[in-house]
Amino acid sequence: MKDYLAVADFSAEELQSILDTAIELKTEWKKNGNPPILKDKVLAMIFQKPSLRTRVSFDMAMRHLGGDALYLSPAEIGLGKRESIADIARVLSGYVDVLMARVFDHQHILELGKWSEIPVINGLSDYNHPCQAAADALTIQENFGSLKGIKVTYIGDGNNVAVSLMHFCAKLGADFTIGHPEGYGINPEAVALGEKFAAESGSSISQLNDPREAVSGSQVIYTDTWVSMGQDEEAAGRKEVFPPFQVNQSLLEGAEKDAIVLHCLPAHRGEEITDEVADGPNSRLFPQAHNRLHAQKAILVKLLT
Ligand code: CP
Ligand code: NVA
Repeated sequence: MKDYLAVADFSAEELQSILDTAIELKTEWKKNGNPPILKDKVLAMIFQKPSLRTRVSFDMAMRHLGGDALYLSPAEIGLGKRESIADIARVLSGYVDVLMARVFDHQHILELGKWSEIPVINGLSDYNHPCQAAADALTIQENFGSLKGIKVTYIGDGNNVAVSLMHFCAKLGADFTIGHPEGYGINPEAVALGEKFAAESGSSISQLNDPREAVSGSQVIYTDTWVSMGQDEEAAGRKEVFPPFQVNQSLLEGAEKDAIVLHCLPAHRGEEITDEVADGPNSRLFPQAHNRLHAQKAILVKLLT
């Protein structure tokens, strides 16, 4: 395991091992703190887009494990503009021990991985958000014991977050359903991969245009923004199409009684999710956000030790 760029690159055993390591590190940290197993290791964090959770959880993960982290803003690096991605990867390989990058174009994270001599972690690209999916799966495992046989329904845009969640579910045996407006589904290549993984684990992938039908029988309801970073020009059009796909109390009542509600955050309250649901008894939004810290630690430990 040199890099962590997409969920689809890993076996079910490797993904499960990330979750198990995350639980061990979380338990250990809550009890006595973690030992400095990443002492003297430094993570460089390259951001082409804004971030709260990804930036802070990675920084704190390194500190808890005895290492350090550097934040490199979009203006500082000029990824592919001031300097080529290949040159940036080769220069940083001589300074730090691991890279994490949040990029617009997934090809750019692949390019970093290709040229870098040190591990590269995808902190979100237009294709998928594998660090988020690890925290999502960790939250589902904590609530239900495992992902196997759980029905996970994603409501909204078939975006990067939907892809990595779908692949994590399919690999670990959870049934994945997306309820999306016509024209906003998950890209067919990613779905085909998901269907292959689901066939291997004995689970299923379903794509529906009716949100009520999609949530029926679900134990996990997940949503994300209707307008991802970089899609600002489409915002007005999207906000006309997506309202029937709002996760609100009425939609939640169509799911299983003890269904949990997840959202990668940031939330646009009153758009894809209501306050009533985000702050209600079924919500696990903040434990899920906090699990980013533990998932990030597990990924770093897997790559660096
Ligand atoms: N969920 C997530 O990745 O949040 P940030 O954009 O704040 O990092
Ligand atoms: N789909 C969102 C996720 C933000 C964490 C985006 O790409 O902007």
